[in-house]
Amino acid sequence: MEEKPNEVHYGLEGVYFTDSKISKVDGINGRLYYRGYAIEDIAKYSSFEETCYLLLYGRLPKKEELDSFSKAMAAERDLPDFIMDMISKLSGREKQMHILSAALSALSAFDPETEDQSPGANMRKSIRLISKLSSIVAAIGSAALGNGYTKPSKDLSHAENFLYMLAGKKPDAGKARMLDKMLMLHAEHSSNASTFACLVSASTLSDIYLSVVAGISALKGPLHGGADENALAMLHEIGNPGNTEEYIEQALAGKKKIMGFGHRVYKTYDPRARIIKESLMEIMNSSDEDVKNVTSIALRAEKLMIDKLGKTHGIWPNVDFFSGPVYEYLGIPSGLFTPLFAASRIPGWCAHIMEYWQNNKLLRPLENYTGEIGLKFVKIEDR
Ligand code: CMC
Repeated sequence: MEEKPNEVHYGLEGVYFTDSKISKVDGINGRLYYRGYAIEDIAKYSSFEETCYLLLYGRLPKKEELDSFSKAMAAERDLPDFIMDMISKLSGREKQMHILSAALSALSAFDPETEDQSPGANMRKSIRLISKLSSIVAAIGSAALGNGYTKPSKDLSHAENFLYMLAGKKPDAGKARMLDKMLMLHAEHSSNASTFACLVSASTLSDIYLSVVAGISALKGPLHGGADENALAMLHEIGNPGNTEEYIEQALAGKKKIMGFGHRVYKTYDPRARIIKESLMEIMNSSDEDVKNVTSIALRAEKLMIDKLGKTHGIWPNVDFFSGPVYEYLGIPSGLFTPLFAASRIPGWCAHIMEYWQNNKLLRPLENYTGEIGLKFVKIEDR
């Protein structure tokens, strides 16, 4: 009997594989909602701790609930000595995502609850992962900057503690709030490549740690979380605002992709990029000439790209375009951008893994085989 031709969805584009109540990405109207709340309100009124609670528990906390959740997060900030040894031995190798992945895998061997798949243990591990991942990223960054290890503080907010561990000194309140916003904006984004990678691993009933490691691996690439580092590198390469248009025109003529633009779902301005642009406008009057320069290049590049590809091709700025200059202003080195993206996305990953396990189904798509069949096998001595 002749088989019907298979319908292939390259890159799984347009394929729905599960139901979820965690976030809604409205790519037509450029809107994003976490558990029903608009990202603009989250960025304005919430904190990273409250956003984690919202994503993990599915509702906004009452004040006492948030206080005790924030304390539970702060209590998990410490890192075991062997993780610190590992980070210091591996530092200087410019492979921050690899170090992060190794450190997280090593941490899973240390956690007595790694194999406990009960919902309570998975929630405790999620809180632990959110806190410790941030400490690991800050420690990796601090080692790369040559700042030595600063032990986490339990008295600071999550964002403040990150900057404190990175630089070894208490951060300015305005910068900590700017980072807090960045963490919230990156916390969740439905079934993007890294979240899907987490779920592929989780669907085999692997544990939450190694499922997150799968997400970290997928996040690393320049088409996903690695785009912000590449976008900033491009802004530096342009060097002078007056070179912006020529550089971009040439890159597009050479069929190069401009990092920080385009999205599989948004065919309009990414709402997160709009909010990050507000931070960019705040820092553009900074006294630092480098910050001013890079900001001005970013704004010229944004205008040109929208004129050339926005309205005609649906290629608009995404979350990664303006992030680099903001992180740089916060004193975060570019090699740490993607690890920091992981430290921001971890509540989303954990929320998705726990949600998926409530109705688990092994993820196992099909390939459309286009090779030959029925070939005659010739033994090696006769070939
Ligand atoms: N610059 C120039 N052209 C682009 C860009 C870009 N940034 N993005 C897409 N295009 C073109 C692409 O060349 C292709 O053209 P053609 O049809 O002539 O071959 C067309 O648009 C479709 O692109 P695609 O890559 O097939 O579309 P996709 O839906 O698979 O890709 C994307 C989405 C994000 C991978 C892509 O837009 C891209 O590579 N952007 C640059 C990397 C980037 O900024 N990634 C971060 C994404 S948002 C944050 C995150 O999820 O991590």
